[in-house]
Amino acid sequence: MYEWIKALHVIAVISWMAGMLYLPRLFVYHCEAEIGSKQSETFKVMERRLLRAIMNPAMIVTWLAGLYLAWAGHWFSHPWLHAKLLVVVVLSGVHGFFARCVKDFAGDRNRRSQKFYRIINEVPTVLMIAIVILVIVKPF
Ligand code: HEM
Repeated sequence: MYEWIKALHVIAVISWMAGMLYLPRLFVYHCEAEIGSKQSETFKVMERRLLRAIMNPAMIVTWLAGLYLAWAGHWFSHPWLHAKLLVVVVLSGVHGFFARCVKDFAGDRNRRSQKFYRIINEVPTVLMIAIVILVIVKPF
């Protein structure tokens, strides 16, 4: 059972991260589209579908499967898991922020610059590298 849930966890992680890495890239392109243009409306649909159909469910499955693994594998007393949980909470916060950005774009209320989205685009990558090292190497 443990191995099957771990497989589900990794599948959910890949789906979640695909969205976390791509959505801010869509924001970068969306900044260039004129408000009310066909291109801008297309970006709105892409952003909403990516968030609702892929990222939200994938994040929930990642959390549920991850917490099951932590419980079933008796990992809760291990410091690497505490560190991993901390980074995953930050990643989930970034997810929440991206959801707000999707809402802002949907209402044509985005005030953030393209440069801002280019920088924030790198944050999920850095967090993902830390998480994978923590869970695979288990340095402490
Ligand atoms: C949402 C909260 C999460 C919890 C509670 C959690 C917890 C766990 C636990 C307990 C394991 C099993 C470790 C083992 O058997 O050695 C695991 C495996 C794994 N987790 Fe998570 N995880 C979470 C989120 C994430 C995220 C966001 C990522 C990547 C960005 C990730 C990547 C992985 C990977 C790659 C494995 C497989 C490691 C292996 O093959 O040994 N996890 N997770």
